[in-house]
This record gives sequence, C-alpha cells and structure tokens, in this order.
Amino acid sequence: CGIVGYVGTQSALDVVLAGLKRLEYRGYDSAGVAVPADGSLAAARKAGKLVNLEKELLERPLPAGTTGIGHTRWATHGGPTDANAHPHLDQAGRVAVVHNGIIENFAELRAELADRGHRLASETDTEVVSHLLAEEFSGCADLAEAMRLVCRRLEGAFTLVAVHADEPDVVVGARRNSPLVVGVGEGESFLASDVAAFIAHTRTAIELGQDQVVELRPAGVTVTDFAGRPADVRTYHVDWDVSAAEKGGYDYFMLKEIAEQPKAVADTLLGRIDRAGSLSLDEVRIPASVLREVDKVVIVACGTAFHAGLIAKYAIEHWTRMPCEVELASEFRYRDPILDPRTLVVAISQSGETMDTLMALRHAREQGAKVLAICNTNGSTIPRESDAVLYTHAGPEVAVASTKAFLTQLVACYLVALYLGQVRGTKWGDEISAVIHELSDIAQEVERVLATMEPVRELARTLADKNTVLFLGRHVGYPVALEGALKLKELAYMHAEGFAAGELKHGPIALIEEDLPVVVVVPSPRGRSVLHDKIVSNIQEIRARGARTIVIAEEGDEAVLPYADHLIRIPATPTLLQPLVSTVPLQVFACELATARGNEVDQPRNLAKSVTVE
Ligand code: G6P
Repeated sequence: CGIVGYVGTQSALDVVLAGLKRLEYRGYDSAGVAVPADGSLAAARKAGKLVNLEKELLERPLPAGTTGIGHTRWATHGGPTDANAHPHLDQAGRVAVVHNGIIENFAELRAELADRGHRLASETDTEVVSHLLAEEFSGCADLAEAMRLVCRRLEGAFTLVAVHADEPDVVVGARRNSPLVVGVGEGESFLASDVAAFIAHTRTAIELGQDQVVELRPAGVTVTDFAGRPADVRTYHVDWDVSAAEKGGYDYFMLKEIAEQPKAVADTLLGRIDRAGSLSLDEVRIPASVLREVDKVVIVACGTAFHAGLIAKYAIEHWTRMPCEVELASEFRYRDPILDPRTLVVAISQSGETMDTLMALRHAREQGAKVLAICNTNGSTIPRESDAVLYTHAGPEVAVASTKAFLTQLVACYLVALYLGQVRGTKWGDEISAVIHELSDIAQEVERVLATMEPVRELARTLADKNTVLFLGRHVGYPVALEGALKLKELAYMHAEGFAAGELKHGPIALIEEDLPVVVVVPSPRGRSVLHDKIVSNIQEIRARGARTIVIAEEGDEAVLPYADHLIRIPATPTLLQPLVSTVPLQVFACELATARGNEVDQPRNLAKSVTVE
C-alpha cells in the first residue's frame, strides 16, 4: 500500500493526491484521504484506482485544510470495496488512520473493543487502530502519545499514519517493518511509504527505524521509540530525479523503463570496473578475508528478482566453484535452512521492502550468515538490515512488472559472481577478465536489441486471441523462459509456463497441440555448443507435434532456421551473459500482448509492485 501525510501551508489535498499518484504502483484496489479542518475531520474513500477518488472529490469536495493523509491500497483484510478503503475513522469521526501491513492480533483487539461497546463498520484490521487511538487520545489529548500507547499493543508488521480533529496541525506516523520515510521541507513536513511521493517538494529525507513514532508539525518533526524516548535521526539527501518518475512521452511507464535499460545497465556498471579491467567493489563492506572463507552462497528473492537469482547461480558456481542455492524468500525460513557464518546470503530486491525477502534475510542473520543485498532503492529496509549492499542503479521503476530493475539485478549478480571469483582466485582468472571486458560493452548490445523490436510487436499482436504460450530454455535460458512466462501472466493474463527444454519430454510435451505458440530461447552455438544442439532437437520435437515456434537465437545461428516459424535475433554474447539480451524481446512481447488484449500495462489486476506483507 502507499501512504502519504502532509502538514504545512499548501493545500493538503493537492499535496496528498499528487503523492498518492506517485505511489499508486504500490496498490490500486482503493484510495482515500482525510483532512482535519474547521474543528472536525473530513474524509473520502473510493474502491478502484485513484481516478475514482479524484472524481468523487470533484463531485463532493472536502473543506480546504493544510494537514492531510492519504492511502492507496493493496487489499489484505477485506475485499477492495468503498467500505474497506482507508482511511478508517473512529466511531465519533474525530480520528482517521491509514495503514500498511497486517495487525496479527486484530481479532482479539476487535473483540475487546466490541466488549467495551465499540461498533466497527468495516472488516479491516485498521479500523481497530482508529478506535484504540480515539480511546487513548481521550486520556492524554496528545496524538503522538496515543499512537505510542496503541503501538505497544499491536502485533504484526505495520505502518500507521493518523490525524485527529483536535490536533489539526499534526500528523503522526508509526513504523514496524513496513516502510515509512519523512520529508523535511521549509515550514512543511511529509510522510510517505516512498520518497517518490514528496521529491517534488523536498529532497531532505529521514528514514524511520523499526518501532519508531514520528510527529509531524509544520515547524519540524520529532521521532521517538514506542516508549517515548527520543530517537537518533539520520537525515539524507534524495538524488533521484523528479523527471525519472514521469512517463516522458511514453504511453506507459513500462515502455519507458524497457527503453531505459541500456542506461540502467551502464549506470549499474559505472565506477565498478577499474582501468586495469578489475572489479572494484569497495562498497561491499564484507572484507575480502571473510569472502575467502565463504563456503556456500544462498540467494533469496521473490518474483522477477528470484529469476535473477536463478541466473546468478549459474554464474556464481561457474566462476567461484562454490555451491550456490537459490530459494524463494517466502519458502526459505520455514524449512529450517542450513546456514552458518561461512554462508553468504544474497538478498535480491528492487524495492528493498518485500516482506518475504526481509524475513528471509533476518532469519539468515540470526543464524550468523553474512547478508549482501542487491537492491534498487537507497535507504530501504533490506539494504539497511544487511551486512553489505550493492545498489543497482536502475532509477525509479514504476511499472509493476519489473524490466530495467531485472536487467540491473543481473548485472549486479554477475558483478558479485566475478568479484567472488576475483577475490578467491579461481582457475577462471582469464575468463573473468574477458567477461568483465564483455560486460562493459553489454549496454550497447541491449540498445541494439531494442532497435529491432518491431517484428516482435507485430507478432505479439497476432497472438492476442491465444490462451496459452509456453517458454523453453536451457542453462541460463531456462530462468529466462520462466521470466518470459511470468511477464505474460502478469501483463497479458494468459496462461504461460516456462520449462527447461530438456524436461519437456518428461511431461509438458503433452501440452503441445496444433498452433500452440512456444517461445524457445536458444543458447549460443559457440562455446557450449552441445547445449545449442540439444535445444535445436527440442525445437524439432515440438514442431513435429504442431507447435508454432518462436525462436530467439543469436545472430549468425543458421542451424535454427529450418525450424523457426518466427525468428527473433539477438546479438552474440558469452553464454552466461545472454539473459541480458534475450530477456528484452520477452518484455516487449508481453507488453504488446497486454496492450493488444486491452489490459492495463503499468498496473495489472491484483498485483502490487512492492508487497510488504508475508
Ligand atoms: C512483487 C512484484 C514483482 C516483483 C516482486 C519482488 O510481487 O509484483 O514484480 O518481482 O514483488 O519485488 P522486489 O521489490 O523485492 O524485487
């Protein structure tokens, strides 16, 4: 969910709505705002996207005020209805609360409130908080203190932001696990789940720590822990560009972000390869002596980032000769994984806020493992709680389906693999130098792929009425196939599956029928040519059974010609780096199919970009 709070001199509604617009990627099941003004509290909320709320506010305007809060929701407790939308008010309508996360003991608290005569209007855990806050406020007449008292009773992960009609110049926020950042302006203060909501106003930000409460007044902010003790605050400067969060002439953020990939890749490499062609990753604060002692790497991530992790495994095991496991973060800690101080855990996350990944890394650190985060969001929770971080410099990614962040995650994974190889001095020294060299040219190759995408778009449009598309790959092409299928599910709402091409004959081949589109990612015929030859046989097998083959193959690969109903060319790269170019056509393919099917590209149904619940 996305949260915004404002106190200052501007129209709170304008600031809050503009902020919500920038946070809508975090959830778009419903939206709402509340403004304390003229001795009372006014609120509006609406199911569906933010535009629905904006329409409602035009029809029934709220009184003007200079303090306000807003929320855009990804539904957890209760369906995406008007009644379940935030903010939630107490019975007297004096306090309004917006919330991100889940309050685990809400049923108990709700029962307790009911016993004391409270009537709750919605099914949400948030409403419980507004009632509790109203009770506590009536005892102390201090919203920040009331918030601290309430927070001490809550279990689970939450971010809460509240306003009270009796303290119209105050916004209070509380944070446990779910993200919340403070923006400090001149005579105004902001609160949001992401700096994107306020960078148009201020670039001075404060990260709120775990279990902290912040009180915002026009003159400044006060941060304490839940017991009321003043907290140390760290102010930082946000260097993201406002224009980077705008569409810049593209119809969708996703198209813009696909186009930005060469720059994102180049920026992620910038300053990390020295003149002598070695990697200099000083930012990885884990000393080389510790990295030399590592005997196993475990990667945890979710969604697209998990696919980056699967590819990283091939690179890490090859260049370091160390075992590497990759696990879905949501599965990791529940299976009692074997970890010790010699394990290096790599947590990959674009947002740095994914709760599953955060919980996995906490579990890893509790077991004594070192954690290295690969992350795109400066100051987010995952890098802050890790031993070290390698930032991907993709810039803000707004479209829910990840594109440029994925490519930069791959670059970061290669850097980690090569760096471990370099530090540990494996037999692949020469190959490592050669690959570092190839990596420095890879952004141009991505650019070349982007310039040849028109036939991919045309092809996608012809497949708009299909129900199923399969994706096949081998070696690093296998996770690419999984990612191609995920993109299609997310965007086109089509049944799509990725398979290891060699596994096809053990079951999935039964799915092949006349004219079924099957995308095949073909490894380079150079280098490990045995892989290439095997996949050419696989293409023949499916084609013989009627599949319509869409073949992604290197320039100059002639062997695939007789079996490709559609051929998509990609530049020749070293085998392990191929995902950097082979993923791009699959992104374009999914985006175009979504458009052809009339789907919302940037905000697919049911999804959210950053999922801060487990
Ligand atoms: C959500 C998004 C996915 C993303 C995943 C992991 O489910 O919809 O696109 O891959 O989270 O996100 P992260 O920010 O941790 O990379």
